[in-house]
Amino acid sequence: MISASDRGAVVRDPVLQDSFARQVEYLRISVTDRCDFRCVYCMAEDMQFLPRQQVLTLEEIETLARTFVSLGVKKIRLTGGEPLVRRGVVELCGRIAALPGLRELVMTTNGSQLTRYAKPLVDAGVKRLNISLDSLKADKFRQITRTGDLSQVLQGIDAARAAGFARIKLNAVVMKGRNDEEVLDLVDYAVEKGIDISFIEEMPLGAIAEHSRAEAFCSSAEVREMIATKYSLVESAESTHGPSRYWRIQGADDSRIGFISPHSHNFCATCNRVRLTAEGRLLLCLGNEHSADLKAVLRRHPGDEARLREAIEQAMQRKPWSHDFRVSDDVQVVRFMNMTGG
Ligand code: GTP
Ligand code: 5AD
Ligand code: SF4
Repeated sequence: MISASDRGAVVRDPVLQDSFARQVEYLRISVTDRCDFRCVYCMAEDMQFLPRQQVLTLEEIETLARTFVSLGVKKIRLTGGEPLVRRGVVELCGRIAALPGLRELVMTTNGSQLTRYAKPLVDAGVKRLNISLDSLKADKFRQITRTGDLSQVLQGIDAARAAGFARIKLNAVVMKGRNDEEVLDLVDYAVEKGIDISFIEEMPLGAIAEHSRAEAFCSSAEVREMIATKYSLVESAESTHGPSRYWRIQGADDSRIGFISPHSHNFCATCNRVRLTAEGRLLLCLGNEHSADLKAVLRRHPGDEARLREAIEQAMQRKPWSHDFRVSDDVQVVRFMNMTGG
């Protein structure tokens, strides 16, 4: 957007751009690699987490967020691991939400602590919440998350609905033989609660032993067919500036059904995002290793935001065109999702 300054000169809003002329407006920040769950598609059962001194401090995260926003980032999503297990995260939200130029601060959570944190997050300025929910059966939920308690998460979802977020979206990773028979139940639940739900194709991040990703693969088209046996779906052009493509259900105006299809409908051409890992590595693509060590820049040159800006702008030139996920059991990216920020 162009605006006129006092003296009449034309001032352009800053824009971060990669070498393919894609504008990067969306930053996902992993505030911790730790989590109280151990979802089978995301982590190994026995995880080694980062030592504290390798993790960015809250002040460093705030500095990075401010620098990205000054360069043109409009949307920040805090993720993890589980962001709500990091002490001080609500205060961090308040400081990031107040950054001039930021359009929205949003969060992705597993929902386990929302009865306590939903209201403080709204008060701190978090606009929307995405909550992972792969099953509505307590035993299945426990199998998938290994440690999670379904009733706690369902209470958390209700607390979030009462707290006043502009929107809430559920995320379900669909896996054949694990939760594919629950697709309709999950849609019913989202419709009943008046919230959105996205169905996600599992991505090959990190080595997992519990199931064959190739055998468990369930395409978004298959999920849509299941939903169409009960609901009438209408494709929608709406966007949350994320990877979901949305459908509307006729007669259920409060819910949208999203599909995140990294395998069957690659969305890289319109990619607008980069990720900051908990240890301060800027990942330019979820499916590639291209990165820049922003923690090193921060710690080597404390207080030098100009240098940080330069490092970020240079990193954009290394953003690859696309990921190349294949449906197979080969580990295509060694990082687990909790390292990456979802
Ligand atoms: P909104 O659109 O803002 O609601 O959020 P989102 O869907 O971008 O974020 P969320 O944290 O809910 O992520 C949902 C799923 O989309 C996760 O499995 C993410 O890993 C996946 N995802 C987000 N961005 C990308 C991306 O650039 N590439 C791929 N392959 N997957 C992504
Ligand atoms: N493939 C697809 N989605 C994943 N998530 C975690 N690991 C994977 C994976 N391997 C999802 C979680 C959460 C979001 C941040 O990422 O379900 O909703
Ligand atoms: Fe934790 Fe989310 Fe990973 Fe599950 S998917 S283990 S809730 S970070």
